[in-house]
Amino acid sequence: MKVGSTQYRSIWVEDGAVRIIDQTRLPHEFCVVTLDTTAQAATAIRDMWVRGAPLIGATAAYGMAIAMREDASDAGLKRAHDVLMQTRPTAVNLRWALEDMLAHLAPLSPADRADAAMARAAAVADEDVAINAAIGDHGLAVIRAIAARKSGPVNILTHCNAGWLATVDWGTATAPIYKAHQAGIAVHVWVDETRPRNQGAHLTAWEMASHGIAHHLITDNAGGHLMQHGQVDMVIVGTDRTTARGDVCNKIGTYLKALAAQDNKVPFYVALPSPTIDWRAQDGVAEIPIEERAGDEVSFVQGKLADGTVTRLRISPDATPAANPAFDVTPARLVTGLITERGLTPATAAGLAALFPERVGS
Ligand code: MRU
Repeated sequence: MKVGSTQYRSIWVEDGAVRIIDQTRLPHEFCVVTLDTTAQAATAIRDMWVRGAPLIGATAAYGMAIAMREDASDAGLKRAHDVLMQTRPTAVNLRWALEDMLAHLAPLSPADRADAAMARAAAVADEDVAINAAIGDHGLAVIRAIAARKSGPVNILTHCNAGWLATVDWGTATAPIYKAHQAGIAVHVWVDETRPRNQGAHLTAWEMASHGIAHHLITDNAGGHLMQHGQVDMVIVGTDRTTARGDVCNKIGTYLKALAAQDNKVPFYVALPSPTIDWRAQDGVAEIPIEERAGDEVSFVQGKLADGTVTRLRISPDATPAANPAFDVTPARLVTGLITERGLTPATAAGLAALFPERVGS
């Protein structure tokens, strides 16, 4: 997507170097970083310079490619896989990308691995862009149908950032929004701030503002009230891992939005690229590992002072400890539909299996 007049992806290769946008600096600074080492790629994922399930997967793929320049032996391959796998536990795209890279590289001789790894990582990134564009087309049909039934803009609530910054391009939840905007359909987005790290306030709001899409930032607790008053036509969120039967794990707070949506008969859609399906898991609440992040993310907020200085501020007493589960699981029964690159399906085992028969049990 465009930043100013320049077309960007969230990860790219320039003069042989892997580059990313440091998302911890947005929205106040746009800062490009080069990833030179495997350790740096791991830090970029763990410390959330990059984040969002698809981008975590793409960065892990490029991390393997960087690792093959350092040590392309069998031991080096295994070490890179293990180091990157430890970075963040919830997004299954990480495992998916690392297993994909291993399957491609392991049969090759070490001398061939560096070039092959870079080519495969680029293919993973390109595939993500194509998947998200297709999700956008299928989601556009849903938005178009809602627009046809009402006057005024289609009001869409989203949580966290499942935007182009969370993927290689387009975003998942935002792809239908961008496509609708491009098609001339009036959309208005309610952007949940998404505590504790405020990915909504920092990233989704920045994306919407950059693309001229009408939006308002809201507190995480405002969604239910807006739904009760008919001000939300649909919810679209992303997912970090969706089980084979359609349970959806996404940023903490997603579950509460789904509960409020059901109580108010607001359709609740999840934009789901197929690499985010964990075919080995059924019961999301019981089986998906939920990342527990540092309490400091809750106790501090980052923002800009009136004089322009970007800083962190403590918002709680020094002695108060904080707990920080980073994701929650929305049971399939609360999900109206999954928007995948192959079309829309109910959040059921049968629905997912019908769309991706070759992946069942993988
Ligand atoms: O902790 P984050 O910022 O990586 O969490 C991101 C989300 O929860 C997104 O909604 C999810 O990864 C889907 S991204 C298309």
